[in-house]
Amino acid sequence: MAGNTVHNQTLWWQQGVIYQIYPRSFQDTNGDGIGDLAGIIDHLDYLTWLGVDAIWLSPVYPSPMVDFGYDIANFTDIDPLFGDLATIDKLVQQAHQRNLKVIMDYVPNHTSDQHPWFLESRASRTNPKRDWYVWKDARPDGSPPNNWLGSWGGSAWEWDATTHQYYLHSYHKTMPDLNWRNPAVKEAMFDVVRFWLDRGVDGLRIDSAQRIMKDPQFRDNPPNPDPKARANVYKSLGDYDLQLHIHDRAHPDIHAVYRELRQLLDAYSVQSPRVALGEIHIFDWPLWATYYGTQLDELHMPLNFGLVGTPWKASAVRQVVDAVEAALLPGAWPNYVLSNHDEPRVATRIGPKQARVAIMLLLTLRGTPTLYYSDEIGMHDVEIPPDRILDPWEKSRPGLGLGRDPERTPMQWDATPNAGFCPPSIEPWLPIANDYKQVNVAAQRANPRSMLSLTHALLKIRHASPALSIGTYASIPDVPDDCFVYLRQFNEQSYLIALNFSSKEQQIRLLEMGTGRIRLSTHLDRKGMVDLGSFGLREDEGCVVEMGEMVP
Ligand code: NOJ
Repeated sequence: MAGNTVHNQTLWWQQGVIYQIYPRSFQDTNGDGIGDLAGIIDHLDYLTWLGVDAIWLSPVYPSPMVDFGYDIANFTDIDPLFGDLATIDKLVQQAHQRNLKVIMDYVPNHTSDQHPWFLESRASRTNPKRDWYVWKDARPDGSPPNNWLGSWGGSAWEWDATTHQYYLHSYHKTMPDLNWRNPAVKEAMFDVVRFWLDRGVDGLRIDSAQRIMKDPQFRDNPPNPDPKARANVYKSLGDYDLQLHIHDRAHPDIHAVYRELRQLLDAYSVQSPRVALGEIHIFDWPLWATYYGTQLDELHMPLNFGLVGTPWKASAVRQVVDAVEAALLPGAWPNYVLSNHDEPRVATRIGPKQARVAIMLLLTLRGTPTLYYSDEIGMHDVEIPPDRILDPWEKSRPGLGLGRDPERTPMQWDATPNAGFCPPSIEPWLPIANDYKQVNVAAQRANPRSMLSLTHALLKIRHASPALSIGTYASIPDVPDDCFVYLRQFNEQSYLIALNFSSKEQQIRLLEMGTGRIRLSTHLDRKGMVDLGSFGLREDEGCVVEMGEMVP
């Protein structure tokens, strides 16, 4: 496998595990029912104990909060809801003291319509910032300039009654798209990157990374001949699926922009290595891999949503992992996402028993895992009463099940009212799950068989074992259909990971493999020698087995 090579020198973002924090929902310290940066600082010791290596913060910048922070009104400050620049500096410094890296969300595709750049841009057709956004005349009949659709419904164009032109918004109409073809915009946005790297931030997660370059001729998207067999998306987006989105994003010119951004990051990496992760929703793996750059000179890692978009079947998941591995150029580093603030939590998607198998998969595959806050304790999504729905996506496309509030509910820390997230007398911004008295960090830390104990044990063994953190990957054929079995190796060390995706017992017969020692079972109740010629996995069980000196 071309990309499946071990390099002697791996960097923190290759060896490490990234923990995604949705700051609104992590810990409220000032009693407004919304999480803040001080709350994250308070839990840095928890994260160190847990054993993650980096935190990625969803946006904390000043924002009208139409899209809960992805609509940014100032890229170089902190929203008072979360704290201020002094608090983020303290967070970075305290994280670094604990050897934790900090990754900030970077949202290059759009701003809030309240950003001063847009206020200027919309002021008049002759404003110097007019061309910082994408403005177009109406067609002769007054309709929008082309057929592009916003991801959250309706045309991607909004009429401005003052200056009599349309502006482009790939998402909500209050989130106008920046014009990256204007060199001044690119420079201003690169300055934003410099601002955060100068403050000591270790990396960026680039939001909507495919969107920044569109067709310069603004051609209509062609119809999608087969909306049901969507090649690049995995959940129904309604009318949006009726088009092939080939002109409204991912123009080939995008690669030059990421090459330039990479050069900027590389210059900073001389001091300490920085990383660029990009939100790239592509499931055609060779195409997805182009975002690493042909010379590995673009994104360090386009985020990989393969585990999110694949039916939870051993064969399907194995196929994705093998295809990802095969698509990587030598030296390109894989990564896996299991859930995030836009997707159902893993315990809801595949059930609490299989969530344990999934976390073992995430933390033992080759490549950098992204672990979504709350998945370590197996929190499930929370049903949101209609009068508390907040997500603009749900509001603009009601009934399609696209709302993201359920997976963004507050972290459950303990069994006190409001789960320790905010004071008991305060209503949290989103409701707390009613099982919080059982499903919370404190209870699970005290329970040696809990999901949290499993996550902790997995992170511990991963850290202690180069085979698991940086070793090679090879899937093992001839195992039962419901099992995914693979080998991770580094020098003399090798681990076999055997995962049962079903609720039935399975027998694995790997006659030539001899014996091994179970280091971890998802049930957290067995260790010791096993004969791999006849290895029984119980229902919903995954095992990490340390092998003797052997090469299959
Ligand atoms: C992707 C982000 O993950 C999502 O939460 C956000 O709504 C859109 N980009 C727009 O920024």
